[in-house]
Amino acid sequence: MTAETTLKQLEHEVSQCQACGLASGRTRSVPGSGPLTARVMFIGEGPGFNEDKQGLPFVGQAGKLLEQMLAKITLNRTDVYITNVVKCRPPNNRDPLPEELAACGNYLDRQLLLIRPELIVTLGRFSMARWFANEKISIIHGKPKRFDKTVVMPLFHPAAALRNPQWLKLLEEDFLKIPRILAKLDAEKAQATPSPATPSPTSGEQLTLF
Ligand code: URA
Ligand code: SF4
Repeated sequence: MTAETTLKQLEHEVSQCQACGLASGRTRSVPGSGPLTARVMFIGEGPGFNEDKQGLPFVGQAGKLLEQMLAKITLNRTDVYITNVVKCRPPNNRDPLPEELAACGNYLDRQLLLIRPELIVTLGRFSMARWFANEKISIIHGKPKRFDKTVVMPLFHPAAALRNPQWLKLLEEDFLKIPRILAKLDAEKAQATPSPATPSPTSGEQLTLF
């Protein structure tokens, strides 16, 4: 089975899933959207009102902000993969419960294995907690960290930023780091496969983003 088919099948499984209590309140589940080849994966919290109606992630106010910020770094939402830690809407947008996060985590694990993003951008504290346990978002936001072959950068959640102008400013600043991180990863790749046309640098060219 191709990875494309496997991803489609996963999305179908999510649409039928009854593995936690959130199944009973949903209109539609929201598996995620974007190409299998995406270099960047955004992980939010869970579908809200509009997402639940449309079956697509980040299509309400928070999604508009996300799209505006993507445009500033010349990316389109179809260039990146966008998903959430829980795929069905929690009632009244309450926080997802530990048992819901546990039940749904398997889908996110499989999405990560299939898409293998170079950069994961977590939006808000629930997706952040998968990689950064017991850390504070107010301290570690915008600080990329390497986990094996993937870099993970925690950002404020766009919905939270819409409620707080200070966080909005920080979120916008942090977002602008994304192209620099991707450029650094490109530079590393070029260095790892030296060819006669691209001699490796002689000394002192370590980039310092991490
Ligand atoms: N907020 C989220 O965390 N995810 C969405 O998909 C929409 C809003
Ligand atoms: Fe299944 Fe996740 Fe929806 Fe729960 S939130 S029913 S685990 S898809």
